[in-house]
Amino acid sequence: MDAALHTAALFVHLASLVLGFGAVLVADYFALLCLTGRYTLRDALNSTARLHVPIWTGLVGLVASGVMLHPDLGSTLTRIKLGLVLVLTLNGLQVGLLNRHMTRKAATPLAYPFLAWGAATAVVSQACWWGAVLIGFLNSQR
Ligand code: HEM
Repeated sequence: MDAALHTAALFVHLASLVLGFGAVLVADYFALLCLTGRYTLRDALNSTARLHVPIWTGLVGLVASGVMLHPDLGSTLTRIKLGLVLVLTLNGLQVGLLNRHMTRKAATPLAYPFLAWGAATAVVSQACWWGAVLIGFLNSQR
């Protein structure tokens, strides 16, 4: 591939990473504050609702620029990275369902199943994003 195009795609990849993962970190931080009782559920839901646009824009940018970087699909690490991207995307989609359930219960203290669901969602999100960052970094060292 043309070197200038590769450099441009890498810049878009990193800029999308900052946008998407930056917003995910803020969303998961609000979830953590809520789960540890330092932020009300209603405030957490309102704040994270504002983060959907940067998260999904960043993810679309990562996938589009990632394809332009020509991933080596023969590499196991790269396949694991793409698997992590798939899981974090599905995890992001099921957040909509969780939000709808939580919004209905926002006035009452959160029941255990919803706390566990919220905590598991945040753990899966963090594990997949950090895993993809780590593999992207390792691949760029070879
Ligand atoms: C959550 C999603 C993703 C994250 C966090 C992520 C993270 C990274 C990071 C940190 C790098 C290293 C950049 C550097 O060289 O400084 C990278 C490179 C790269 N990423 Fe991603 N990425 C993601 C999604 C994708 C996707 C979906 C694809 C493919 C469709 C992809 C393909 C690539 C390729 C080909 C490279 C270049 C590796 C090299 O230098 O040979 N990435 N990514």
